[in-house]
Amino acid sequence: MRSLIDIQELSVAELDELISVAEDIIANPKKYAEIAKGKKLATLFFEPSTRTRLSFEAAMYELGGNVLSVSSAGSSSAAKGESIADTAKTVSCYADIIAMRHPLEGAPYVASLNASIPVINAGDGGHNHPTQTLADLLTIWREKGRFSDLTIGLCGDLKFGRTVHSLIGAMSRYSGVKFVLISPEELKLPSYVKTQVLEANGIEYEENTDLLAVMPRLDILYMTRVQRERFSNQDDYLRLKDSYILTPDKLDGAKKDLSILHPLPRVNEIAVSIDNDPRACYFKQVLNGKYMRMALILKLLGLSTNQACQAEGKEQEAMETSDAFVCQNPRCITTTEQELPQRFKLADKNKRVYRCIYCEAKANS
Ligand code: CP
Repeated sequence: MRSLIDIQELSVAELDELISVAEDIIANPKKYAEIAKGKKLATLFFEPSTRTRLSFEAAMYELGGNVLSVSSAGSSSAAKGESIADTAKTVSCYADIIAMRHPLEGAPYVASLNASIPVINAGDGGHNHPTQTLADLLTIWREKGRFSDLTIGLCGDLKFGRTVHSLIGAMSRYSGVKFVLISPEELKLPSYVKTQVLEANGIEYEENTDLLAVMPRLDILYMTRVQRERFSNQDDYLRLKDSYILTPDKLDGAKKDLSILHPLPRVNEIAVSIDNDPRACYFKQVLNGKYMRMALILKLLGLSTNQACQAEGKEQEAMETSDAFVCQNPRCITTTEQELPQRFKLADKNKRVYRCIYCEAKANS
């Protein structure tokens, strides 16, 4: 039984296999129409969603399966104080697989530790969103035909934008990939993504505040929304929310084959007038997300017809851990989950940096 909490749990070979299955689903939808008959997906969404929840549900229906859904925290016993662990144990009695979104970072991971069925992280706070990355990867593959030798501009809220963290985790495995990180100072990429992912993999990156200055070099521009719901101070949100607004004139210096991606929802980061530009790929991303979620459900339920896809991912390296710290991240699942042990992994052996195993916040020594 296997879950998907972080995109890095999938090897490059497995990503290739998921893309291959998704392409086969697109070409031969009838072949898959009853493949998950009798199986049930539970979508547990404790935070708002349009695309992720509905695409998971559409994916399961198109595979011939059924869906049980919690569409808000207020409509489940979470509102009465039920823990994630108890929720996961309960839903394991009814469903075959869970897709969970939660505002607290590490919540789907805690669910996976307690469920007896696979758990898919459908977005945890500002931490990770691996299935959005699957949608992004299929879009890049279909637009560019490769994952290597690409310069990728990530623009907007790189601090709280969980889709950015997961996309970097996936694309850092390919050769010749460069990242241009475009954000206001206050919304820069978290240091753990820089050290644990970019620097650990020797990936070239630069930080810049000027989108126009870097535009001519980009093969992919990944715009993001400033995540209002993650700010503790709304004045900061109001000051930063319009930092980057892509309008047609700003594309004057862009490559003719630039691909413009956005995980959506959009607020005002991309002018609607760009939607008809052939370089705009964000609604293709939405559709690609459904196909990749279909491929993922098949893989985690052991129903994939692609035999190579049955292989387990690479062995996780044994990690040195400590219980000598208390997580200081107010958005960590440890702040609410009853009797959840504090646990930190040694993320940087040279600098002796420990990070929370649930949310990856740095331990205060
Ligand atoms: N991209 C994404 O996660 O969209 P939703 O919040 O609508 O699910």
